[in-house]
Amino acid sequence: MSGRGTSLVSLSGHACIEAQYVTKSYGKTVALDDVSFTIPCGERFALLGPNGAGKSTTLKLLVGLLKPDTGTIRISGYEPFSSDAKAILGYLPEDATPYRTLSVRENLEYIAALRGVRDVREATDRFLDELNLREYERAKVGKLSRGNMQKLAIALALIHRPRIVLLDEPLNYLDIPTQERVFKMLKSLESTQIVSTHIMSIATRLTEKAIMISRGKIVWNGTIDTLKSLEQGEEPIESVVARLMTNAG
Ligand SMILES: Nc1ncnc2c1ncn2[C@@H]1O[C@H](COP(=O)(O)OP(=O)(O)OP(=O)(O)O)[C@@H](O)[C@H]1O
Ligand SMILES: [Mg+2]
Repeated sequence: MSGRGTSLVSLSGHACIEAQYVTKSYGKTVALDDVSFTIPCGERFALLGPNGAGKSTTLKLLVGLLKPDTGTIRISGYEPFSSDAKAILGYLPEDATPYRTLSVRENLEYIAALRGVRDVREATDRFLDELNLREYERAKVGKLSRGNMQKLAIALALIHRPRIVLLDEPLNYLDIPTQERVFKMLKSLESTQIVSTHIMSIATRLTEKAIMISRGKIVWNGTIDTLKSLEQGEEPIESVVARLMTNAG
């Protein structure tokens, strides 16, 4: 990681996401403590860490839903809450709840139109098919099962073909065939991605690199291959990750 005197922004050139010395507290709780990282354009990163580590807070800061107390964040050089950044970002929140009183189709068409999608009908139909939501297109979101609501939330995050995709535990609530469908969909996207997850198979199959946070600090940042190389004997990767998190804590 870069020293305090060096600007990551000036060093990057092709960075899509940059966080420099970011600190964020909720009252007395320090959720992020002097965190810096750079995500080069086109790369996929897993965001790992135990419960309460600061993963969701990190993603909320990157999409401009929260402002850092100190430090700076840039999305392709833009302020996260600027309209320029919003146009290129796609974000799936943790426990996303689409508009409950609208139908599945109405949600998709409304968000597509809001985000300036040229052919709203085509984009809506494509996501209904890709995520197996056709049979629910007229159903009100409030009546959907949790997994189907998650599928819709994923579609809403991706419908405008964002160049930068931030997903907070995207496979939560999904059945196994749908997990595979979403996995393939994410893998096929040509975008810069950060995926927060507790499921190591997502990290190892979807991403090439990982950032690990524990208690608001980055404790590990490197390639998935390096992470795998830390396996001792028959040790599964989950146990490597647990070890790194525990040693850091
Ligand atoms: N709105 C809030 N008000 C007060 N404290 C908060 C709030 N949101 C998060 N926190 C605290 O900030 C810290 C980081 O929380 P965060 O939700 O970012 O963790 P996380 O890594 O996403 O955890 P999980 O794996 O459980 O989703 C925790 O101590 C949490 O209790
Ligand atoms: Mg979280």
